[in-house]
Amino acid sequence: MNEITLLRPDDWHLHVRDGEVLNDVIPDSARCFGRAIIMPNLKPPITRVAQALEYRQRILSAVPENSHFEPLMTLYLNANTTAEEITHAADSAHIHALKYYPAGATTNSDTGVPCIESVYSALEVMEEKRLPLLVHGEVTDSNVDIFDREAVFIDTVLTPLLKRFSKLNLVLEHITTSHAVDFVTAMPDTVAATLTPHHLLMNRNDIFRGGIRPHHYCLPILKREKHRQALIGAAISGNPKFFLGTDSAPHAKQTKENACGCAGMYSAHAAIELYAEVFDEANALDRLEAFASCFGPDFYHLPRNTQTIKLLKDDWVVPKNIPFGENKLIPLRAGETVHWKLA
Ligand code: NCD
Ligand code: ZN
Repeated sequence: MNEITLLRPDDWHLHVRDGEVLNDVIPDSARCFGRAIIMPNLKPPITRVAQALEYRQRILSAVPENSHFEPLMTLYLNANTTAEEITHAADSAHIHALKYYPAGATTNSDTGVPCIESVYSALEVMEEKRLPLLVHGEVTDSNVDIFDREAVFIDTVLTPLLKRFSKLNLVLEHITTSHAVDFVTAMPDTVAATLTPHHLLMNRNDIFRGGIRPHHYCLPILKREKHRQALIGAAISGNPKFFLGTDSAPHAKQTKENACGCAGMYSAHAAIELYAEVFDEANALDRLEAFASCFGPDFYHLPRNTQTIKLLKDDWVVPKNIPFGENKLIPLRAGETVHWKLA
């Protein structure tokens, strides 16, 4: 197959930051995605509906004129999130979920959830209102090996959580292990997972290929090849629990090429094309549309997009860097070839 037409896909996990950089990153997502779930880990985080609605307006101001990209907003759950705020969020047409960052797990998560018990009352309201909980699934104990943090989180936090809140709508975000695939598969239909292009395309050797590669550092960290294979299996399975979420996470070049570089990869410039590579390589291009354009809206009880996009099997070279406000960012595959192209 050398070309494929899909219903317009959506991105169910995206970081776009704030301020002038919105003008640099939003057009990359808007060129192929109809909607995106916007992560609330700004500084300070988006914890209130009113803040999310203002942030939404700033994002909309950065959407190019000929596009209809729609930001789907989320709130940053913390120990102070009230039942009123969750009810307010559930009633808003623009707030679609709450994000659970274990405090200290990743970029801008220091004011996240210190211990899961501190948000039990919030989760009760979310369960009742069917407002999804989006989970960064890693324990933060620095004594736990970084490659095991997702599996330990599933066993010690998520399993008891879903026993207690068995009807909670929950997305385990950016899963990276076969353990996560098995766990999500075994759960009821109210539990789903997103898959990123970078975890589908790379394994942990890519962090150290010929030297240390700060642009391949993200959280959860890239895992072994056998885990990547399990993720590909989930993506092409046709199981509606697994859908597209890029976790595209822009950081200025100098904050990644640093003695203590930040976590996050930028993929919005080539997102759908990179997923097409994965599905093509797995001889499963016929499953790409369901994964990219159908299972996400179905889970969130939103209509599927009606417009289409066309992808061509055609090589192009990713720019070496991309403007990012006053700085630059280094996109995934910088200076290298991508084998699919948006028509
Ligand atoms: C994300 C970011 O930079 O905001 N970084 C990352 O490595 N994925 C946060 C996150 O999703 O963990
Ligand atoms: Zn993320």
